[in-house]
Amino acid sequence: MSETITFVHLTDLHIGNPAVQDDHLYSDTSATLRAILSEIKTLVPQPKFIVASGDLTNRGDQASYDNLKAILAEAELDMPVLFALGNHDRRDGFYPAMLGRTDNVRAPYDHSQVIAGVHIIVLDSSVPEKVGGDFEPGQIEWLKAELSNHADLPKLIVMHHAPSLDADPAMEWESMSIAGTEALRQAVEGKHVIGILSGHIHFDRVSNWYGIPVVVGIGQHAATDVTWLHEGLRMLSGASYAIGMLRPSGLSITFAPQPAERRELNSFTWAGMAEMLKKYQADTAAVAAAE
Ligand SMILES: [Fe+2]
Repeated sequence: MSETITFVHLTDLHIGNPAVQDDHLYSDTSATLRAILSEIKTLVPQPKFIVASGDLTNRGDQASYDNLKAILAEAELDMPVLFALGNHDRRDGFYPAMLGRTDNVRAPYDHSQVIAGVHIIVLDSSVPEKVGGDFEPGQIEWLKAELSNHADLPKLIVMHHAPSLDADPAMEWESMSIAGTEALRQAVEGKHVIGILSGHIHFDRVSNWYGIPVVVGIGQHAATDVTWLHEGLRMLSGASYAIGMLRPSGLSITFAPQPAERRELNSFTWAGMAEMLKKYQADTAAVAAAE
């Protein structure tokens, strides 16, 4: 890989059906998605692809996926969007609405694609009726076969539930199961996996998991109050998405907080940077001289 590849990581979109009152939808997720997509269209350089790591909808019903599809169509994006499924999704809602598929609608949605020299592997970690993640029989075998394809390409894994960082059975609801995590660890070992992109817990978090960066985003619904986790789950307003850059030196992730309309404190163009630095140095010298 000789050039820098830019992409976007969305997660936990939690899109609802506008025709239905949903007491478990705490913010206007349709408006947030529209705002984020229009912001993505202003990014320079443009991302080569977007991944959305699950909880695409809040209820998993077809009407919510239809709404998601309409918002995406309205945005007229020039890049592909790869979808993963989360615990709020329903495979039998997703497949017909998003892919027009009506057979085998309870099978996990595992898929892969090579875009701009990146081998993107999307794993379905959702388990019907469960909050935490797991793999069904056959999924790890599929992953192992997939990881042996395109051996020379960097591999990016997208899955709703991040690997379990602590082997604590009481906390399995917030991640991939402990057994699934161990199976994943064995499968990815030595396979040039450059990162795992996830969601589910609704706060920005970067972990080093056996040498692989695991990136979790707040997502677009509600932000977990990380100062209150010892008491319980308190949801705050706020959202984020992430801009990924894959350089020959490795992966970097930049979180873009939402809402984006914040008060400007200062700004200067790159063309004006030399002038700004000159003024800063002169002002610093003046402060020192006044002492
Ligand atoms: Fe979520």
